[in-house]
Amino acid sequence: MSKPLYSLFSLLIILVTCYADSSNTSSLCTPSVCGNVSIRYPFWMRSNTTVAGEYCGYPEFGIECSEGSKAVINLPRNKYYVTDINYEIHSITLIDIDVLGQSCPRARHNVTLDNLPLDFNSSLDLKLNFYFNCSSAPSSVEPIGCWEIRNDSRKSYVFPEGNESDHGSDWSCGDHVVVTVKHNEIDISTTTGLLNGFGDAMKKGFVLDWRRAVDCADCELSGGQCVYNQTTRQSTCICANGRFAAKSCKKGTLFLTC
Ligand SMILES: *[C@@H]1O[C@H](CO)[C@@H](O)[C@H](O)[C@H]1NC(C)=O
Ligand SMILES: *[C@@H]1O[C@H](CO)[C@@H](O)[C@H](O)[C@H]1NC(C)=O
Ligand SMILES: *[C@@H]1O[C@H](CO)[C@@H](O)[C@H](O)[C@H]1NC(C)=O
Ligand SMILES: *[C@@H]1O[C@H](CO)[C@@H](O)[C@H](O)[C@H]1NC(C)=O
Ligand SMILES: *[C@@H]1O[C@H](CO)[C@@H](O)[C@H](O)[C@H]1NC(C)=O
Ligand SMILES: *[C@@H]1O[C@H](CO)[C@@H](O)[C@H](O)[C@H]1NC(C)=O
Ligand SMILES: *[C@@H]1O[C@H](CO)[C@@H](O)[C@H](O)[C@H]1NC(C)=O
Ligand SMILES: *[C@@H]1O[C@H](CO)[C@@H](O)[C@H](O)[C@H]1NC(C)=O
Repeated sequence: MSKPLYSLFSLLIILVTCYADSSNTSSLCTPSVCGNVSIRYPFWMRSNTTVAGEYCGYPEFGIECSEGSKAVINLPRNKYYVTDINYEIHSITLIDIDVLGQSCPRARHNVTLDNLPLDFNSSLDLKLNFYFNCSSAPSSVEPIGCWEIRNDSRKSYVFPEGNESDHGSDWSCGDHVVVTVKHNEIDISTTTGLLNGFGDAMKKGFVLDWRRAVDCADCELSGGQCVYNQTTRQSTCICANGRFAAKSCKKGTLFLTC
C-alpha cells in the first residue's frame, strides 16, 4: 500500500472506531476508590457494568473491588490485594491473597511479572526462599516449626535469597517458592527473627514499581491517557477534552474529535 493511501486507510479505521464508540468515555475514565485505595490511570476499575473492551489504563492493571472494599489485582500466576498505590513515585504495595488471615502463611506461587511494565523495588524488597516438604536437609539448619506435621519427617525451611547455599547442597524438597517482603518488616540478622517474623512480614506485602508502557509513551508524554481496546488489542490515546489521537496529543499529529 502506498504511503498516502495507507494514511487514508488509518484515518478511516480511526473514524470507524470513533463512530463505533459513541459511548461516554469520560465516565469510563473517572477515577474511583476501592476501600482506601484510589484507582486512577494507569490503573482502572474492573467492573461488569462498563462497556466491554475499552479501558482507561494498561490492560493488565485492572483492579477488581471485591467484597466492596478490597482492591485486588491479577498478576499472571496469582491474585494480590492492593493496599496502596503511590501515583507520585509510581509504586504499588501488594499482599499475596493466599497469606492473609493465616497464622503460618504459606505462599503457593512465585510472583510472576512476565512482560508487564512492573519491577520489584530493589531498595525496599527482600526475597525469601522457602523450601517445603524437604525429605532431606542438612541437620545444622533449623526448620520452620509451625509447618511441622505430626508423624511426618518432612520439614520446611526459609532463607534470605541466596543464603541456602551456605548450608551445602544436600537438599531434597517438594516445593520451592520465592516470597518477596519488605526488608524493614523483618529482622533477618538472626534465625529466630527470620523464623518468627516471616509470617507478619508476608502480611505487610511488598512493593512493585511500574514503568511507562512502551505503547503509551508518546500519548502520556503529550498529556494524554492510553485507552486499550481488548477486541482490536490496540491502544489509542485520549487527550484533554475527550479528543482521540492515534498516538500522541501533540500539535501536528493526527487527532480527531469523536
Ligand atoms: C459523561 O458522564 C458523566 C458522568 O456520568 C456526565 O457528568 C457527563 O455529562 C457525560 N458527558 C456526556 C458528553 O455525555
Ligand atoms: C456483576 O457483579 C455483581 C457483584 O460482583 C454480581 O452480583 C452480578 O451477578 C454481576 N453481573 C453480571 C452480569 O456478571
Ligand atoms: C473496539 O474495537 C472494535 C473493532 O474496531 C469495535 O467494534 C469496538 O466498538 C471497540 N470497543 C470500544 C469499547 O470502543
Ligand atoms: C488501607 O487499609 C489497609 C488495611 O486496612 C492498610 O493495610 C493500608 O495501609 C491502608 N492504605 C492506606 C493507603 O492507607
Ligand atoms: C507437604 O505435603 C503434604 C502432602 O503432599 C501437603 O499436604 C502439605 O501441605 C505440604 N506441606 C507444605 C508446607 O507445603
Ligand atoms: C503417629 O505416631 C504415634 C506414635 O509414634 C502413633 O501412635 C500414631 O498412630 C501415629 N499416627 C499416625 C496418623 O500415623
Ligand atoms: C546471608 O549471607 C550473607 C553473605 O554470606 C551473610 O552476610 C548473612 O549474614 C546471611 N544471613 C543469614 C540470615 O544467614
Ligand atoms: C519459583 O522460583 C524459583 C526460582 O526461580 C524456582 O526454582 C521454583 O521452581 C519456582 N517455584 C514455583 C512453584 O514455580
